[in-house]
Amino acid sequence: MVARRPPGALDSGRRVPEGYETIICVTAPTRESPFLRACRRQPVPHTPVWFMRQAGRSLPEYRAVRKKRKSMLAACMTSDLITEITLQPLRRYHVDAAILFSDIVVPLRAVGVDVDIKPGIGPVIGRPVRSKADLARLRALEPPDVAYLVPAISSLVAELGSTPLIGFAGGPFTLASYLVEGGPSKNQERTKALMYGDPPLWHALLARLTDITISFLQVQVSAGASAVQLFDSWVGTLSPEDYRAAVLPHSKRIFEALAGTGVPRLHFGVGTGELLGLMSEAGADVVGVDWRVSLDEAVRRVDIGTALQGNLDPAVLLAPWEVVRLRARDVLSRGRAAEGHIFNLGHGVLPETDPDTLARLADFVHEESAHLGRVPAQPAGRGPARRRASQRRPRRPA
Ligand code: CP3
Repeated sequence: MVARRPPGALDSGRRVPEGYETIICVTAPTRESPFLRACRRQPVPHTPVWFMRQAGRSLPEYRAVRKKRKSMLAACMTSDLITEITLQPLRRYHVDAAILFSDIVVPLRAVGVDVDIKPGIGPVIGRPVRSKADLARLRALEPPDVAYLVPAISSLVAELGSTPLIGFAGGPFTLASYLVEGGPSKNQERTKALMYGDPPLWHALLARLTDITISFLQVQVSAGASAVQLFDSWVGTLSPEDYRAAVLPHSKRIFEALAGTGVPRLHFGVGTGELLGLMSEAGADVVGVDWRVSLDEAVRRVDIGTALQGNLDPAVLLAPWEVVRLRARDVLSRGRAAEGHIFNLGHGVLPETDPDTLARLADFVHEESAHLGRVPAQPAGRGPARRRASQRRPRRPA
């Protein structure tokens, strides 16, 4: 049954901006899916699994579609291609969630930034943003700017049935880094120079990107996405102190703005072992972990009340199956220390990955976790009383 909220009204009584009216699915078919249950830290029949970059260059059918048609960004702005490419991995793998085919720079393009995605390089910006005058050119994102997402998401939701669709956006640091550097960068020198050297301009830039990101994610949720993931992929280059001062307030505002939608909010970055606690403090319901920190250790680093996602090294998939199987089993067993665990890779699928290995891995995760028994809502030994969300578990002594 689908109930439509009166335009502009939220359960909390707050008003939502024009164009963001949410359809509440009272009995949404995805609600009790293993993926959403694990995000809510509820017991699941098996550990849910999906793969970051499950759509894309590792799939021959993706390469075939892209060969015939358009540039990467043009594909991201074409409704029927978004739907088709999002569904491709679901036809091969028994994964528990779909992720929208898009890119973190799509909202920048939508507000007029001259960004392109160059094959083998990544996003490249014609006129980087490095001054107040550059920032003035970066306007707000209105729902009509990404109108092509709405029919794509509607048909995906219809097609996917009980499988949730994950919407996503780039995190504030990662988006800023592409804008300031003008393209990919190993050490983010210019970005950090701006962050350290001109805090008012830095915060003004991140505040603008935060507004754009909130609108972009609200459009996706309004159209039917069941969860959202904020990819702050390159934020791991910051120290915890700098992250707290320069990024956390903005990420927090993004997660707070989505709190009223009720969809789980996932947060991921590469090399963020030292930032995991702060990333949960920012308001994520699920924190994604790369392969550098084991999940049983990550549990100790995040706030109580946080589920974990991860964290098999994507390069393991290039090794023989027996290695993949043992490594995946280890991730599953360490993941049982978490209040909720979603199996994933520690970063995106590498283009050279054999799709058959991913198919086998998804099945193995299901079989192995079901065999281990129902995954408890809370790790054994913890009482029912929940401690404050901001209370951190003590770190294991060195
Ligand atoms: O299946 C999925 O996960 C959904 C699709 C998705 C894409 N980009 C499609 C894509 C997602 C979630 C992203 C997010 C994204 N984009 C991130 C965050 C995640 C991460 O990997 O850390 C970042 C940093 C980007 C920026 C970006 N876009 C990069 C670094 C690249 C790769 C450049 C290259 O050629 O090596 C892209 C291009 C891109 N985004 C491709 C796809 C399928 C490949 C484009 C192609 O050549 O077809």
